[in-house]
Parts: sequence; structure tokens; C-alpha cells
Amino acid sequence: MDMLLFSLDRDTSTPLYEQLYEGIKDAIIQQKIAVGEKLPSKRKLSDFLNISQTTIELAYAQLLAEGYIASKPRVGYFVEDIDELPFIEKPINSTPTVQKKRTYKIDFSPGKIDEDSFPFTVWRKYAKELIDLHSKELLQIGDRQGEYELRTQIASYLYQSRGINCTAEQIVIGSGTEQLMPFILRLFDDTNIALENPGYSAIPRNHLEHVAIPVDVDADGLLVDQLEKTEANLVYITPSHQFPTGAVLSAARRAQLLKWAAQKESRYIIEDDYDSEFRYIGKPIPALHSLDQNDKVIYMSTFTKSLMPSLRVAYFVLPPTLLSRYNEVFGYYSATVPRFDQHILAHFMKDGHFSKHLNRMRKIYRKKHDKLLSIFTRHYPAIKVSGDVAGMHVLIQVPHEKQEHELQQIAIENDISILPISNYLLTPIQLKRPTFLLGFGGIPIDKIEPHLDALMAVWSIDKH
Ligand SMILES: Cc1ncc(COP(=O)(O)O)c(C=O)c1O
Repeated sequence: MDMLLFSLDRDTSTPLYEQLYEGIKDAIIQQKIAVGEKLPSKRKLSDFLNISQTTIELAYAQLLAEGYIASKPRVGYFVEDIDELPFIEKPINSTPTVQKKRTYKIDFSPGKIDEDSFPFTVWRKYAKELIDLHSKELLQIGDRQGEYELRTQIASYLYQSRGINCTAEQIVIGSGTEQLMPFILRLFDDTNIALENPGYSAIPRNHLEHVAIPVDVDADGLLVDQLEKTEANLVYITPSHQFPTGAVLSAARRAQLLKWAAQKESRYIIEDDYDSEFRYIGKPIPALHSLDQNDKVIYMSTFTKSLMPSLRVAYFVLPPTLLSRYNEVFGYYSATVPRFDQHILAHFMKDGHFSKHLNRMRKIYRKKHDKLLSIFTRHYPAIKVSGDVAGMHVLIQVPHEKQEHELQQIAIENDISILPISNYLLTPIQLKRPTFLLGFGGIPIDKIEPHLDALMAVWSIDKH
């Protein structure tokens, strides 16, 4: 090769040698210069491009160091055969395929928790201890069902707070309800699964959209009569606080559901008890699992609401009858939650900080909840609020001539996030009024009224 023609820009901050290096590298990668070809001598190229020999020397040295060219003493530089795909940086203006999640000035989405009350100091203490003590054994792969220490803590917590009698051996820890659901489904050869409609939208995302059997929900929770008429052998249910309607499964329906499950060997109930820690009216509702005499309930819960969604720790409790099947199917799986995180959490629970945190958060969420409801009662009486006995969101029915999606769009245009109930429907249900989930967990208490006023204002609903 006689010469290399590159346009070098002397007015940018990128040094000339770097521009030359990039130019030659790209030409080699794109095979514009063939393997084995000799590069021009430094002197010739320096004359040709009108740059110093030192600049060329630097560029060639970099190419040499990275293996794009090889040097033959007293002969020159030759293009090497590159057998691995080189890393090619994407142009800065290329369109990203995954968009960054949009944030909103006002966010009523139900997944938010209070950010101001997390016990960072205590959490840091346990994290620091684990690192400082060089917990070498935690560098190795852990128990596939989750760390025994954490499972023991969960078993004891479940016994004390939910009346659930189980052993650590029955517990499987994983990185979220959504991630654990496929584990449960794989335990069954035939998964005719019934889901609540409306219901938690992450569940059908497990390839269940077209096969799940929707069962309606009313003020007493899942319509068990309707379930009985289906071919389902599994049912996923949120009995303590139906998501998203907030209904509590009535005692009669609990008994009916357990009876339904007991009637056939292949039938099981998946109880998702995701936010039972936060109940504002009446006494705690016992878990369905605690009433089950026939080992028919697979109990699931999560630390998403009680601690933080980003922790990614959830778990399920298998009835003893399913344990050997679990070991058969998942004998080779590894736990999906980092061991360090599991141990921080186990220590946090063992030393009583989890129950302390829950007591504190219960008060905080109750205050937010009461404030929200009092604003609706006092200032927006036309809005019907339901599902307000527990959790961190309520349902609101908005008297409006506009459709749900139009109202949502208006909110979005005004930098407000609010989700319509239609997002959670497996099959459409005709509702009398546009209905939305209004999450209050993440809103600071002093912002509840102004945020609500802002939402109502964009929907042109007058404040009384
Ligand atoms: C019904 C229901 N289950 C479970 C969860 C928590 O899921 P994960 O454990 O994947 O965070 C939520 C979250 O908001 C939920 O609404």
C-alpha cells in the first residue's frame, strides 16, 4: 500500500494521532485494508498527510499494542488477521432500543413506597459487617432455595404475624413474585390456571395471557362459584387485599375455595399475600394458608411493599406434598438473590429491626391513607373511593364523560402518572365509570393534597 488517505481535523480537541489511529483501525475492521498488507512508512505518510512523524509513530504504536498491526524489523508494519470481532463503538446519536423509564412530577402509581423512612443506618451496619468480616464463605454459591438463615427468619415471621406454620425447608426464596411464578407453574404438568380479573398484571405475563381462565371479582373477592364452573386446577389469588380492587375474600368464600381445592388431588391455590402488613381497618385477616387443613395452599409473599421493591426478594412456601416434586424439577437451579443481600436481610429480621420497621411504616402509611380519604370526603365527594382497608393504593371511580384512557392521557400530558383499572383486566369488563388505582405510598404526606388537587384540576373536577 502506498498511501492512506484520511481527513484529519486540526480544529477538534481529539489529538491527530488518535484520529489517525481510529481511521486506520476502522479501515482494518471494515477490511478496506487487506490482511498482510504493508502500511506506508512513517516518513512517507508524514509527508503525504502533512503531519509529524511522531504523530504517526504514536498511532502505529497504539495499533501495534492492540494487535491490529504487526511490525517486521527494518521492513515495516503489516495488517494482522483479526480472528475476534473487534468492539466497534456505536455512533453517539444511534437510537437506543430500550427507553429510559419516564419519571413524573406527580406519581400515583401503586408500586411506590415511602422513601423517607428507610432505616439506612441499620441496613448499612449489617452490610458493612458482612463485608468487613470478609465473609469468605458468602463468595461461594449458596443454597438453591435461598439462605437457610433467611428462610428460618421468614418461617418465624410468618408464624408470628400470619399464623402460618411452616419450616425453613418449605420456603423457596427468589428475586420477585413475577420471577417465582414460573417456578410454581413448572411443578405442575397441567396448568389450567385461573386468575383474578382484574388482577395483578405481572402474573399473566408468564405466557399465561392466552391460556389463563379469568374469574371475576366483586366486593367479597374472587367469585368462587364462577371458578367452580371452570376446568382450572390452579388458582392465583390475593385474598387478604385483592389486587387491584382491594376486596377482602369473605370468610364464606375462603371456606368454599379451600373446599374446591380439597375436592381434587391436582388442585392447588396460590395465595399472594403481598401487602398484608399494612391494614388500616379492622383486625388482621388471617392468611388463607393458616386455615388450610389439606396442604392445598402455596403461600407467596414479598419484601417489595414491606421493605423496598428494589431488594428483589420474594418467597413461596410449598406444602410438604410438593417438596419432592420441587427437588426433582429444580435440583440443579441456583438461588436468584445475592447471598450478601439475603444475609443482610436475615440479620435485620433476627435483631428485630424488621418488625420495628413495619410498626413504623404502618403508622406512616395509615397517616397518608387517612389524609387521602379525608381529602376525598371533604373536597371531592363525587369521587367514589374503594379498596381502602389495606395497602398503599385505593381505587377511585371518577364521574366523567371522558373515557379512562383519555383521562390517563390528560394526566400524562400534565406530568402525572396514574394507572387505569383496564391495565389489569384479562378480559374487558364494562365499568360504570372510569376507574383508576391511586397509589399514595410514595407521596410525602404534605404533598398528598396538592398532588391530588393537581390531578383533579387537570380532569376539571371542582374542589369543594
Ligand atoms: C399483587 C402483587 N403481588 C406481588 C407484588 C410484588 O411483586 P415483586 O415481589 O415481584 O416485587 C406486587 C407489587 O406491587 C403486587 O401488586
